[in-house]
Amino acid sequence: MRVLLRSIRDRAADNANTVRADEPLAFHRRLPGYWPTPLIEAPDLAKSLGVGQVLVKNETSRFDLPSFKVLGASWATYAALVETLGPLPDGPIAFADLRHWVSPVRPLTLIAATDGNHGRAVARVARWLGVDARIYLPNFVEPARQQAIESEGAEVVVVDGLYDASVDAALDASNHPGTLLISDTARTSFDPIPKLVTQGYGTIFAEVDQQLAASGDRMIDTVAIQAGVGGLSAACTSWARSPRHRRPTQVAVVEPETAACVMTALAAGEPAAIAADEVSAMNVLQCGTISLTAFETLREGVSCCLAVEDEWASTAASGLKEAGVATGLSGAAGLAGFLGALSSPMAAAVRSHLGLTPDAQVLVVATEAPVVSKRDLKARPVVLAVTEREAELV
Ligand SMILES: Cc1ncc(COP(=O)(O)O)c(C=O)c1O
Repeated sequence: MRVLLRSIRDRAADNANTVRADEPLAFHRRLPGYWPTPLIEAPDLAKSLGVGQVLVKNETSRFDLPSFKVLGASWATYAALVETLGPLPDGPIAFADLRHWVSPVRPLTLIAATDGNHGRAVARVARWLGVDARIYLPNFVEPARQQAIESEGAEVVVVDGLYDASVDAALDASNHPGTLLISDTARTSFDPIPKLVTQGYGTIFAEVDQQLAASGDRMIDTVAIQAGVGGLSAACTSWARSPRHRRPTQVAVVEPETAACVMTALAAGEPAAIAADEVSAMNVLQCGTISLTAFETLREGVSCCLAVEDEWASTAASGLKEAGVATGLSGAAGLAGFLGALSSPMAAAVRSHLGLTPDAQVLVVATEAPVVSKRDLKARPVVLAVTEREAELV
């Protein structure tokens, strides 16, 4: 377990990413299959952490996919194409509308590199649009994740290397006409698409605000958010520091011990690549290079970085399951960071730095469902396919 405690600047300096905070939510709401994901209370987890309340934002099902990633892929693709195609008319959007809208730029191939979830999300967006997708995978990705991407109709290219090698391959492929790279990570600080992807994740936190407002005037004191390249945690940090909140929320970024690229960059004060060649069980967080569009936001607003061992992710996943949220190990990583840090010799310092007091309101995000193998998928289609009422009839 490694801990980095940081002092952060006044939040007034950082509101660039909050400007378009509501636009992605307004867009996602118009899509078929949208509903806000649940925000649930987990009193037993609050007891374990010694805080007032733990709220879990359950992102294990978004637009019928097992992670939040489609929020970024859909908004970034739409916002990128709007420049050429103009906006869709107001009101609900049908998939047929999307296909018609995109026809002037066909043939089109969406390109992405992925540890798993982002690639599946881009493949799904391509399916919505009726265009092609080619997804580049590092060589450690589990077969179930590859199959899930292929099941969206995408072409999958497995690269002989780690995640960073798949990012390079996707970048090369996007130099061809008729392609659009929907990358969730940036190699330059002015890359527009990864910024849009991060904006799209903002829907999670815009919903949290609405859910908190609907259940009284509550605020989150501290959030633990897991990071791969840092896009999700940048969205979380922008939200946490939003001038719309009475006071800022403390942000702790959590990464696997073997791939703590955000911690490394924030400790160094500049982006620095690490090897990340020892694959963690939190394998979709296995990234060696921080996204350059996320770096600035994280540097301004992250109070603490936690690098955790896999065992804490298993403990966290069990705790979340007992709270009613079935999640994979990467999905449980945020909570794992708090569990590990508060059991470490640094516990008192972390507790005081992050304000984890007995009345604190804490947020964690369960970012993905457990990975389902092809065999499991075959074993339970009937239960998944029917509604409760149909199930009664069966
Ligand atoms: C399930 C899950 N959680 C968290 C993350 C971290 O997101 P980011 O890479 O933007 O830091 C990812 C990234 O793929 C993910 O798949």
